[in-house]
Amino acid sequence: MEIVHTVENTRKILGQVSAEDKSIGFVPTMGALHEGHLDLMRRAKEENDYLVVSIFVNPIQFNNSEDLEKYPRTLESDIEKLESVSCDLVFNPSEEEMYPEPVTVKYNFGKLDLVMEGKHRPGHFHGVAVVVKKLFDIIQPDRAYFGQKDYQQLKVVEALVNKESLPVDVVACPTVREDDGLAMSSRNERLDEEERELAPVLYQSLKEVKDLAYKESVPEIKKWFEKQLEGYNDIQPEYFEIADAISCMPVDEMQKGKKYVACVAAHIGNVRLIDNIIINL
Ligand code: PAF
Repeated sequence: MEIVHTVENTRKILGQVSAEDKSIGFVPTMGALHEGHLDLMRRAKEENDYLVVSIFVNPIQFNNSEDLEKYPRTLESDIEKLESVSCDLVFNPSEEEMYPEPVTVKYNFGKLDLVMEGKHRPGHFHGVAVVVKKLFDIIQPDRAYFGQKDYQQLKVVEALVNKESLPVDVVACPTVREDDGLAMSSRNERLDEEERELAPVLYQSLKEVKDLAYKESVPEIKKWFEKQLEGYNDIQPEYFEIADAISCMPVDEMQKGKKYVACVAAHIGNVRLIDNIIINL
């Protein structure tokens, strides 16, 4: 496995890979790798000739400096995990390498950027779009793999690829969960023992929402969800929405035959977690 820190060397190596007509599968990450990431990588490796993973904690997608500071950085163990999935190249640039000049580009994702994560983390998706576009330019993958846990991010990346006509297939992969249902996330490492025990409540509640969706209205389900989490003093919900699964726009009513996604963000202690569940009505 090649560990490369510069854009120039990455381009050189990947230029050769493409010249040999090998397909490139790409998994962008911010490190602190867990089974959810490794699942994306195994799939990318299976579906492509050459696997590239980036590890870069992207400062411009954090709207909270404490969150950026506390983001786990575990490069040594990440590299061991990358070896275990037969990664071919890891791109691990410095901040200066990725952003030699101040960012001036402005992406407009319209309403997608104004709801749920976009509303509660202003600037977050712009930061994601800037770094993903740069990574795609450098790596030029045939396919890029994203987890459905960050559902809205996936929709933003799909919108970016459409908007910029980028020659890459975005592959959406199901959320990987712990045995108790907690969605895998690098942030889970920051939960203490009690918080970790509490965290699966989010997914358990989402599963009940999915059952309720067949018989209750959206306002009733929202009321139920709010009440459900009120029972846990240590969980502070930030938002809960049921959204159209294609546009990601929150809805007030659901129709049979359509696909929705119920999304939640909540703080457990100092850790902000998100999760979602697909509802096929
Ligand atoms: O999902 C993430 O880890 C990040 O948002 C991504 C896609 C690597 C961009 O920094």
